[in-house]
Amino acid sequence: MSLPAYVPPQKMEILFSRDQIAERVHALGTQISTDYAGQSIVLIGVLKGAAIFLSDLARSITVDNTFDFVAVSSYGRALVSSGQVKLIKDIDNPIEDKHVILVEDILDTGLTLSYLRQLMLQHKPASLKIATCLDKPDRRLVPIEADYVCFKIPNKFVVGYGMDFAERYRGVEDIRIYPDTPAGH
Ligand code: IMP
Ligand code: MG
Repeated sequence: MSLPAYVPPQKMEILFSRDQIAERVHALGTQISTDYAGQSIVLIGVLKGAAIFLSDLARSITVDNTFDFVAVSSYGRALVSSGQVKLIKDIDNPIEDKHVILVEDILDTGLTLSYLRQLMLQHKPASLKIATCLDKPDRRLVPIEADYVCFKIPNKFVVGYGMDFAERYRGVEDIRIYPDTPAGH
């Protein structure tokens, strides 16, 4: 399959600027630090999209924290309704009796986080919460809500701040609206 033509990010409308993102991520970090005061937490980022959000969020959290990463296979969009998600990289360190926060770039249909939440619960953490940079509630196929959300957004396909289209644009600093809606969205 050939790559679609490259659209320069400057040509895409900004949904949230880097300053708006920084402000919200900082607010989330402060909230998390208050909620977990005196405790230790494990942040588990979902590769690759959450890597940038996690690195900013972790630097806004003032309580004792460590991080880990998981990766899941991106199910073909045609398979979305089957809910097929596969783990391709597991956590490195045990999380039993730990306070865990799953960190995602975007909560869309909810299939990925529902799967990961069930999987992580099998490790018997002391608690498990979800932080997501973006939430698209209109697209949900399974009932799941995040505990910490930077922005709720309408049903538009976005890139930047870790989020990609065909692996591109993850390093774009603002969150921008991709001009076409990719198949399946
Ligand atoms: P879901 O909640 O299982 O549908 O999957 C969420 C994942 O789909 C996210 O982690 C992203 O990788 C991807 N995704 C959903 N919406 C977008 C978008 O607008 N831009 C980029 N990736 C998206
Ligand atoms: Mg992702």
